[in-house]
Amino acid sequence: MTAQQAPAIHVRGLEKSYRELRVLRGVDFTVARGSIFALLGSNGAGKTTAVKILSTLLKADAGTARINGFDVATQAVDVRESISLTGQFAAVDEILSGRENLVLVARLRHLKNPGMIADDLLERFSLTDAAARKVSTYSGGMRRRLDIAMSLVGNPSVIFLDEPTTGLDPQARIEVWQAVRELAAQGTTVLLTTQYLDEAEQLADRIAILHEGRIIVNGTLTELKQLLPPAKVEYVEKQPTLEDVFLALVGADGKKATPAMAATSARTSKEQR
Ligand SMILES: Nc1ncnc2c1ncn2[C@@H]1O[C@H](COP(=O)(O)OP(=O)(O)OP(=O)(O)O)[C@@H](O)[C@H]1O
Ligand SMILES: [Mg+2]
Repeated sequence: MTAQQAPAIHVRGLEKSYRELRVLRGVDFTVARGSIFALLGSNGAGKTTAVKILSTLLKADAGTARINGFDVATQAVDVRESISLTGQFAAVDEILSGRENLVLVARLRHLKNPGMIADDLLERFSLTDAAARKVSTYSGGMRRRLDIAMSLVGNPSVIFLDEPTTGLDPQARIEVWQAVRELAAQGTTVLLTTQYLDEAEQLADRIAILHEGRIIVNGTLTELKQLLPPAKVEYVEKQPTLEDVFLALVGADGKKATPAMAATSARTSKEQR
């Protein structure tokens, strides 16, 4: 198989222990090019460990992992040229402005026109207005968007997002989700880890659950839902969730909703019996 035809990510029999702690015990999965794959798992399931192995930061004890056909253990340089990693904790420089952070990364990667690359990414992530401000004045959502924008400098074909929305408010999460959807729409392959089931539901083409060192299920949302017995029909009054209320009052796009809009939205939810 040539590198062009290989799946974006191909993992077979991956194992990793930290001393006696067997974290990964034979992990298998494949991610098609241009798709969004969500790796779900509780705290300590081994999500970050898997992402570190796939991004060449950590060596596996056994098994193979290939990115665009390149082996993470023996072709690490090729792998690094294909990928970028946005870690679990934001890696932006607080003292620099958003634009300066992006220009710095473009310079470090020896790219031509770092200013143009920065401006383009600022625009794509709706950060143009805040471009000249120090990152220390950014909100958590803006910081996370800048972090993702920084990992896109140089157009990697595969991007790893380790818990991209942990700690963000519902509005900022929706902004990050939008950014991730746009990435995939442009052909980037996205592997994201999350503990939030709704995040996987919203974003992922396929969802895999990592539990006790193995992938226990892997499928589309529809396939995963079919694993449970058919839904029972019950007549209940559907109350809006706290998230519905929050978004109705605050406005999903960050613009403040009017109380009338909020009331309509709450009523609509209630009417959907
Ligand atoms: N360098 C290390 N040395 C020893 N143990 C480690 C090391 N890194 C991780 N672990 C342990 O391995 C297990 C898996 O950790 P990992 O960070 O991969 O989990 P995770 O699924 O990313 O969790 P979280 O949702 O909390 O981010 C945990 O029990 C963790 O304590
Ligand atoms: Mg983690």
